[in-house]
Amino acid sequence: MTSRTLIAPSILSADFAHLADELKALEDSGADWVHIDVMDGHFVPNLTFGPPIIKACKKHSRLPFDVHLMIEQPERWLEAWRDAGADRITFHVEACTHAHRYLSMVREMGLASGITLNPQTPLCSIEFLLKECDQVLIMSVNPGFGGQKFIEPMLDKIRSLRQMIDALQLKTMIQVDGGISLQNAQKICAAGADVLVMGSAFFAAADKKSLVKEVQSLKK
Ligand code: DX5
Ligand code: ZN
Repeated sequence: MTSRTLIAPSILSADFAHLADELKALEDSGADWVHIDVMDGHFVPNLTFGPPIIKACKKHSRLPFDVHLMIEQPERWLEAWRDAGADRITFHVEACTHAHRYLSMVREMGLASGITLNPQTPLCSIEFLLKECDQVLIMSVNPGFGGQKFIEPMLDKIRSLRQMIDALQLKTMIQVDGGISLQNAQKICAAGADVLVMGSAFFAAADKKSLVKEVQSLKK
């Protein structure tokens, strides 16, 4: 569990024609990580960034790059994301057969490892992976698009995961992604989240610094 809440704005909601400026605004806001949503058009019905774009972005930010892979067979690409500048790699438990092995591979590459679950996927599917994870990402929308509505039953899932992690005395962080704004951020933290991903709400905010400050001061 981290001492304060972290915020990882998702550049999925940024203006893609001005990514360097958007990354600067993100860093100036005081946000903690840059969340990068990689979609392959197979695992999710949308296409976004590949390694060359991440590499180009890396030159415009000093923040850790938190790469969320919504792709099939994520193991085929691990080195490519690392070489492009990923600091943290999270992939979906539904997208691969040997998640335990791939999480270890991410750590062996010197990066932080993460596993994520679609809303319908039960926590028991990752119970025996927790020790290999630096973070678990709870999807609170069906992945593929920004600007969707937070799925309320995910609050119970976050609470249960908090209990699992605390019972095992692990430092694994809980990250939550999808449909988060200042309106619901407090209850998500109260449920046990350490890191909030924010796409549309962050990029729509006129005053990004105060938004970030408010999120970072949220208590569990
Ligand atoms: C959805 C992505 C999210 C998304 C969040 O598949 O994983 O990171 O960009 O966007 P908002 O905050 O608009 O739901
Ligand atoms: Zn994401």
